Amino acid sequence: MNLLHTIKERRSTLSFKSEKIELSTLKEIFTYGSYAPTHYMTEAWRIKLYQGDGKEQLIRAIIESYQRSGMLPSGNSEKAMRSRASIADFLFTIPHHALIYYEIPNDPIRNEEEYSSVAAFIQNSQLAAWEYGVGMLWTITPYMHDEQFIERIGLDHEKHKIAAVLQIGYPDKTTRDKGRTPVDQWIEVIE
Ligand SMILES: Cc1cc2nc3c(=O)[nH]c(=O)nc-3n(C[C@H](O)[C@H](O)[C@H](O)COP(=O)(O)O)c2cc1C
Repeated sequence: MNLLHTIKERRSTLSFKSEKIELSTLKEIFTYGSYAPTHYMTEAWRIKLYQGDGKEQLIRAIIESYQRSGMLPSGNSEKAMRSRASIADFLFTIPHHALIYYEIPNDPIRNEEEYSSVAAFIQNSQLAAWEYGVGMLWTITPYMHDEQFIERIGLDHEKHKIAAVLQIGYPDKTTRDKGRTPVDQWIEVIE
């Protein structure tokens, strides 16, 4: 496939096959990701990859965070336990979760640079993944901003920013192409 084709054909993957992806393949995909532009060559992206039994600690931390925020009920009523179990079961069906984070620089401009570069890393990775037949869903979720969650997964909330959590696996269904607005509508040419 060529790059221009992949840029248009890539879709966010909402439903995954249960099959795991080889670690070597994921490392190759993230290697392509790492060719993203990076000011001062800081290569700020860091990845915590959860798979197999490792998913348990992430999913437990997510459920606890949702309980703290009120998005999921606490307590031991049957209804509360069922709603927590249903979210956990869904998250377990996703073969890999890649938490993408970086070290927050003190200077806000440097922070914008690092965040932008990490976003470029994510999109490069998504495009490379598509070439390997691998699907991703780029997510930004409330728990990423929960200080206790950040500490719970072994990061320092004052030092680390979680940029995204990527859900990864072989696509089970194709996502509808929503198309894009012709760029003519967004461009203002000044000459
Ligand atoms: C920063 C960012 C955060 C996103 N967060 C979510 C998310 O939490 N849940 C979700 O279903 N999709 C999320 N998406 C995916 C978008 O919904 C998706 O890109 C959009 O619908 C266009 O679909 P496509 O990627 O298949 O072209 C996110 C995308 C970006 C760039």
